[in-house]
Order: sequence, then C-alpha cells, then structure tokens
Amino acid sequence: MNSVFSRRSFISGAASMAAFGPFFQQEISSRRNAPIGGSRGPQENSLKEMASRHGILYGAAATKTHLSSDKDFAASFVEQCALLVPEVELKWDVLRPEPDSFNFQPADWLHNFAEKNQMKFRGHPLVWFQSLPKWFDSFATPQNTRKLMLNHISTVVGHYAGKTHSWDVVNEALDPNEKRPDGLRSKPWVDLIGPDYIDDAFHAAAQADPKALLVWNENHLETREDWAQAKRDRLIQNLKLRLGRGVPIQAIGLQSHLPGTSPTFNNPQFVSFLKTITDLGLKVIVSEMDIIDSDLPADVGNRDQIVANVYLNYLSTVLPLCRVPAVLTWGISNRYSWISAYKPRKDNSQARPLPLDANLQPSPALAAITRAFEEADGH
Ligand code: G3I
Repeated sequence: MNSVFSRRSFISGAASMAAFGPFFQQEISSRRNAPIGGSRGPQENSLKEMASRHGILYGAAATKTHLSSDKDFAASFVEQCALLVPEVELKWDVLRPEPDSFNFQPADWLHNFAEKNQMKFRGHPLVWFQSLPKWFDSFATPQNTRKLMLNHISTVVGHYAGKTHSWDVVNEALDPNEKRPDGLRSKPWVDLIGPDYIDDAFHAAAQADPKALLVWNENHLETREDWAQAKRDRLIQNLKLRLGRGVPIQAIGLQSHLPGTSPTFNNPQFVSFLKTITDLGLKVIVSEMDIIDSDLPADVGNRDQIVANVYLNYLSTVLPLCRVPAVLTWGISNRYSWISAYKPRKDNSQARPLPLDANLQPSPALAAITRAFEEADGH
C-alpha cells in the first residue's frame, strides 16, 4: 500500500483539525504537493461511497453498447457509481428515428440497468443543437418546431417521470461568439422558435416531471479565457431574466471537460460566477467532468499526476462554493472515453482522462476526486 492519502490518514487529519486548525491547513497544503496515490481498494473506498459520505451523488456517463457487452466494465461501473447518465441514448438521433416516432429501447435498457443496480438515472439532453436526426433539417420549420420540441419534452420526460434524478433541459444553448446581445446560439432553436424556446422547454419539463431537477447544462464555463468570461456573463444575464419571470431553472450543469494544461481554477472570475449562481438560489451539477490530456507529457506516471491534480484543483474550487448534489465524470474508465476519438494525442497513446485506467484499476485521478469530496461537504 503506497497511497500517500489513505482514508485513515485523512480521518486522523480531520480529527486533528478542530484542535490544530493551522496545522491542518499546513497538512492539506503539503498533501496537495505530494503525489496523489491510486492504491485504495475500489470496494473499500468506491467513488460513490466516498461521495455519499459528503452528501454528493457520484455517477458517470455510459452507453448501452459498453455496459451490455463488457461484463467487467459493467461491474466496475456498478461498484463506483450511484448515478447513470446515458452518453448517447437520449439524444434525438437515437430516440427519434422518424418525426412521429420514438425509440426508447436503448435508453430503457440503461434505465433498467440503473434501477436493477440501485443507481439513480439522469437525463441528457432534451434540447441541443447537435446529434439531431437526419430528418430534422428538412422537417423543422418556424411553424412546426415549437410543437415538435414540446411534444418531444412531454413524451420523453413523461416516459421516465418520477424515476429521473435530473434532466439537462437545454444543453450548450449559448454561443457568445455569434454576438447576439442575449448570447444565445441561434441554430436551430432560436431561429426556428425564438429565444423563449428556453422558457417553453423548462416549463414543459416541469409539467411532465415535477420531481426531476431541471438543469441548464453548458460547456466552457470553467476556464480563464475572455470568451469563457463572455459565456459566464451571458449565462448570468439569461438566468436573471428567466428566473425573474418564473422559469423553473433549478440548477446549472458545469460540463467540466477540463484542459489538462490548466493549473488552477480559483481565478476571481470563475469564483465570482459560482457565487452568483449560488446567490440566485441555483444548484450546480458537475455534469461531464474529465481531463483532456492530449497536450500533456507522454510519460504515463507524470501524466496521471497532472490529471489528478487538475481534478483536485477544480473540485476544490467548485465544491466549497456551491450546492452540489451530484458529480459525474464523462465515462468511468479510460477503456471507453470520447476523448480518444475526439481529442486524440499526437503520439497516438491512449487517453487517460478518467478515474479508472483501461484495466479498470483506480488511477491517481480516483484518489484526487475522493480527496476533494473529503475536503468539502455537499449540500
Ligand atoms: O450510433 C452510431 C453507431 O450505430 C455506430 O456503430 C457508431 C460507429 O462510429 O457510431 C454511433 O454513433 C456515435 C455515438 O457517439 C456512439 O458512439 C456518433 O456517431 C457520435 O457522434 C457520438 O458521439 C457522442 C457525442 O456526444 C455526440 O452525441 C459521444 O459519444 C459523446 O461522448 C458526446 O458527449 C458530449 C455531450 O453529449 C455534450 N457535451 C460534450 C460531450 C463530449 O463531446
């Protein structure tokens, strides 16, 4: 056992906190500089168990294809996760083979898998500009699209009503590069329905399932760049406007596909954004977290430490500032990650963005995530 941060050492650290406040701070910061180990037994300290001790549901995205064909992967998923979000099965291109039909079979399989294994189920996404079916462009018009969207939401949310933890009602609705004053992405939903499609979508979801937490899910809210700040500003502007007129937006989803090259996240702009979200009464779901390692060093040990530190730095910023009911990674094992296909490394080595390695063994990232859970209580 070479873990530098076993649970026992954390508990003794925590116990000493009350008596030795400054000592504890020092201990935390020295632990931060030490390598993050990955040698806990997964059964003993699974992510879901460590998260739940702090009031957080831990989960991940997965596909029916992988969970149904790879028994070892499925067992690891169940061992680590308390929440499952379908990676593709609830997207329009899978769910809507024709304008007037629904194919719930793959998503139902995942819903049953979650239920059978005592996991909660999360829905992603109801209204997104990507992964639309081939028929959409020629079928959708300004005359029929509002009805099409509302029917989609009431049917899909209604199908899982009372059995869903949360729904990403709108996903990636912002694109400040377009320079619309409201910051919204125009294609296709604003062009076809108008900017109030967002209000309509949230109202329809609330009506179809009053129990599910309704989320506005966004990418690129986490980084320092000016365009990320523009996105944060436009999101706050939209939230104030829409919450002010009673739109039932209940949480923000921070996708959190984090650049491995980002050293810290506690910059004043991001911190102030998170405080504003909390002041608006909204919860925060860390909805799709992983670390993009395409530009990190080839050496696996070095790369894993950098990835682990990014997880720790990021969660250590977000968790203490927000009400975070759930943290999800976009996949659980490096065996299956979108990053391998979408952000491949130049040296062609396998991406290492997730808490379990390709052999389903805990990576240093797993220890980093659990350490962040231990340091901040969820709400
Ligand atoms: O459905 C076909 C399947 O029949 C075929 O065998 C396979 C072979 O290539 O392709 C399958 O569809 C692909 C699907 O993933 C399942 O693997 C799609 O072409 C591909 O576009 C799709 O990519 C997904 C992407 O969203 C687009 O929907 C990624 O897996 C998924 O990780 C990614 O997830 C997004 C979130 O929804 C939103 N935030 C960003 C995140 C990462 O891009």
